[in-house]
Amino acid sequence: MACDNDPMPQSYEYDVLIIGSGAAGLTVALNLPEHLNICVVSKADISSGATLWAQGGIAAVLDDQDSTENHVQDTLAAGGGLCNEEAVRFTVENSKESIEWLIGTGVDFTRDTDAQFHLTREGGHSHRRIIHAADATGHAVSTTLTAQAQARSNIELRSGRVAVDLITNRKLALPGNRCVGAYILNLEDNHVELFRARFTVIATGGASKAYRYTTNPDGASGDGIAMAWRAGCRVANMEFNQFHPTCLYHPHAKSFLITEAVRGEGGLLKLPDGSRFMDRFDKRGELAPRDIVARAIDHEMKRLGADHLYLDISHKPADFIRHHFPTIYEKCLEFGIDITREPIPVVPAAHYTCGGIVSDERARTDINQLYVVGEAGFTGLHGANRMASNSLLECLVYGRAAAADITRREADIPPPPDAPAWDESQVRDSDEDVVISHNWDELRHFMWDYVGIVRTTKRLQRAKHRVDLLSAEISEFYSNYRVTNDLLELRNLVTVSDLIICSALQRKESRGLHYTLDYPGLLHEARDTVLIPTTYRTPSP
Ligand code: FAD
Ligand code: SIN
Repeated sequence: MACDNDPMPQSYEYDVLIIGSGAAGLTVALNLPEHLNICVVSKADISSGATLWAQGGIAAVLDDQDSTENHVQDTLAAGGGLCNEEAVRFTVENSKESIEWLIGTGVDFTRDTDAQFHLTREGGHSHRRIIHAADATGHAVSTTLTAQAQARSNIELRSGRVAVDLITNRKLALPGNRCVGAYILNLEDNHVELFRARFTVIATGGASKAYRYTTNPDGASGDGIAMAWRAGCRVANMEFNQFHPTCLYHPHAKSFLITEAVRGEGGLLKLPDGSRFMDRFDKRGELAPRDIVARAIDHEMKRLGADHLYLDISHKPADFIRHHFPTIYEKCLEFGIDITREPIPVVPAAHYTCGGIVSDERARTDINQLYVVGEAGFTGLHGANRMASNSLLECLVYGRAAAADITRREADIPPPPDAPAWDESQVRDSDEDVVISHNWDELRHFMWDYVGIVRTTKRLQRAKHRVDLLSAEISEFYSNYRVTNDLLELRNLVTVSDLIICSALQRKESRGLHYTLDYPGLLHEARDTVLIPTTYRTPSP
């Protein structure tokens, strides 16, 4: 029951509502015309998404020795035969222009001694093509784009705002298939506010928090994917959750990545006895695509009963290491590891959601006036395994494409219809938050154990059984208690975990990031796993 002294819920109207302030959301905002009234909301600080933490860089064809065709072919090969070639070509063809736009915003990329941009290498890339700002590319991108957005009078940045659900014509019992905005929880006063908009963009990032160990910051709970699914959008290829091979292994290090560029610059993976092993798994050795390297590490760890393996770059000159990897050098030193003298203990961790909300090349979803950009979306670019540093590129290319489409159409789109305020009359404050923390831990544990790097049908079925129980429990909790950020994240994580498990159960082969002992071979035909909300049913094993 709402208290008498509760403030009146606020209501806002914009031309464009962008949910998420990472590279994807801010690229859309900054490429829209200045006469549009734009709001960008973010769950926590404006720079709180994965973008801030990106290390390696952004892949693009910038070198004369490289070509669009090389980048396209590398992406297709890394994607295990499942990429949509049109999406790959579209992205790669727009890579140079997108980087030029980013440089124009003021991002200060690392240069060589001859003042050319330094390009590094990462797994799967046949050429040096990763432009970067030392080993803190995301920080440079995030802070620069945020400053640009803050300077625009038509862009309002609102932090501490958690989107709860999308509002559509269907939910309002109106004709048509239109998105009207979203209900958004204001964390300052814990009230849900109404944000109506002519256009809504989901830029909420990935869902790697579904797993116990992840490189992702808090907040990567797949909110946008779950909201779009509930609103009626198709979701594809959720079984392809990417595990990064090298996350720092230390009891006090939370989610700290050791960039693949360390291997690109000569870092070697080693067993506890100091011997190398990658050549036994792939002729590209340490620079094989990520799925292969993560699986090789997982295999060796299980074979040896080891908690972690090692990544060693200490054979390179100390100055070179400190110059290229200043952030990693400092961070490891905090934990007593001097990477210029000793190997770095590493383990794989959940890193990137290759699947997501189905969109076209203008970032449009199944619902009119609803777009998706960045890690929350599925464009077909990544196939069964994203190639390193293609993700920020996708945020830029599709962010600009979404902005161009909105700009082209905006004169024809009328204001959103009215929508009711959020109704809290039937709920009360929770007196049992332990349900949330307990279920959160349980979910992330079984996702790690049963839906991880190596899967079996039996493990997936176990996970499905548990996710169904959690789903029922959370749904009951949600109907009875006021929403909080933790409850919303758990509700969304349960939904995306269910989508991951069901997609994995549907794929009866091993391809890219999806590896199952029950179907170790490849099917002749490569097919996306597309889940449709209206016809959704748990697949038979
Ligand atoms: P994010 O940057 O994650 O932003 C999501 C935004 O949505 C945040 O503002 C968040 O607060 C907001 N949000 C989420 N849910 C809600 C909600 N319910 N309501 C309101 N707001 C919400 N990729 C590369 O290409 N190169 C790299 O070098 C690289 N390095 C990486 C290193 C690390 C450690 C990690 C974790 C990822 C890395 N990636 C890299 C991947 C890449 O950083 C991400 O895929 C990319 O930044 C995603 O951008 P995004 O804008 O889609 O989402
Ligand atoms: C890294 O720097 O290793 C991460 C790059 C990426 O995820 O694309």
